[in-house]
Amino acid sequence: MEATIVSDKYNHYPVLLKEIISIISPQYGGTFIDCTFGQGGYTNEILKFPNTRVIAIDRDIESKKIADQIKKNFADRFLFKNMKFSQLKNLKLKNENIKGIFFDLGYSLNQMKDKKKGLSFNSKGQLNMKLGLNDFSAKEVINKLTLNDLQKIFKYFGDEKDSKKIANKIIRERVKYEISTNDLVNIIDSVKKSNSKIHKSTKVFQAIRIFVNREISELINGLINATKILKKDGVLAVVTFHSLEDKIVKYFFRSLSENKSISRYQPQITQSEPLLHMTERKPIIPSKQELNENIPSRSAKLRFVIKKKNFYNFDSDIFEKFKSFIEIENIGNKL
Ligand SMILES: C[S@@+](CC[C@H](N)C(=O)[O-])C[C@H]1O[C@@H](n2cnc3c(N)ncnc32)[C@H](O)[C@@H]1O
Repeated sequence: MEATIVSDKYNHYPVLLKEIISIISPQYGGTFIDCTFGQGGYTNEILKFPNTRVIAIDRDIESKKIADQIKKNFADRFLFKNMKFSQLKNLKLKNENIKGIFFDLGYSLNQMKDKKKGLSFNSKGQLNMKLGLNDFSAKEVINKLTLNDLQKIFKYFGDEKDSKKIANKIIRERVKYEISTNDLVNIIDSVKKSNSKIHKSTKVFQAIRIFVNREISELINGLINATKILKKDGVLAVVTFHSLEDKIVKYFFRSLSENKSISRYQPQITQSEPLLHMTERKPIIPSKQELNENIPSRSAKLRFVIKKKNFYNFDSDIFEKFKSFIEIENIGNKL
């Protein structure tokens, strides 16, 4: 397989790195879980501190190439698993004191540039969009789902106001030929009348990426399992890149840092002791300097909480709250 990941020194700028490091405080040592290892930007920084250990996961097997290099220098302090973060509970942690768990959602620049992955509307080749460990690809989505299903995906995951027109044209075109990335871009271009600065395909491509990678249920399950694994006083931090992700994180953090969501399994705990503590209600955003140096960081938002209890069972109504989005993701079960 051809390597698509190049040295992070030249090609990778970890978003909000200083801010993440200051929040999780690796200078005091401890075990950290990097749920979105990517090119190891955060992991590398943490391992510079002695007495730290990092368990890193990523669903993209390409990440293993970078992980293997890190492993050479930090064999006893670094472990990589090619898995999805929704499966965090499958990590065998042997009662380790997990001090921090963090997610840097989305995709790295190298993934966006990888033509085989086809995440970007500039990819040209076959429709794909799989990050790794997926059940189906964008090709199946575009060539198999109904008009109604496609419309819902574009509308709710992309906030695309021309979703019906675009879905209609896809249905008409796909009987004539198998739609490629370029064909999809042309279809969207022919349907949308827009003078906006953003590319006409941006929203539909975002919607399909979210759908193919089941990003909503991945995030919700990831947050729940991370909260379960974390020890008292451990930090959970998440960098998001679009408003739906941020809404989910914000809701989860706020609801568990207020008094209403204490576990039914812990009846002796009074309503005055929330599970999580939020020191900052507003998200942290990149500094002017970072925005100048790394344009894609402009939509990044960092939120974090501190776990205040050693609970493993707690109630969250997050699935109920985002039920309509999960239902749309479940359209994928037909494929
Ligand atoms: C923005 S990159 C992370 C970059 C990383 N912080 C760094 O500094 O190199 C996001 C990474 O998360 C991975 N990812 C996205 N969703 C995932 C999921 N559900 N489970 C595991 N990894 C995931 C992607 O494959 C990608 O490598």
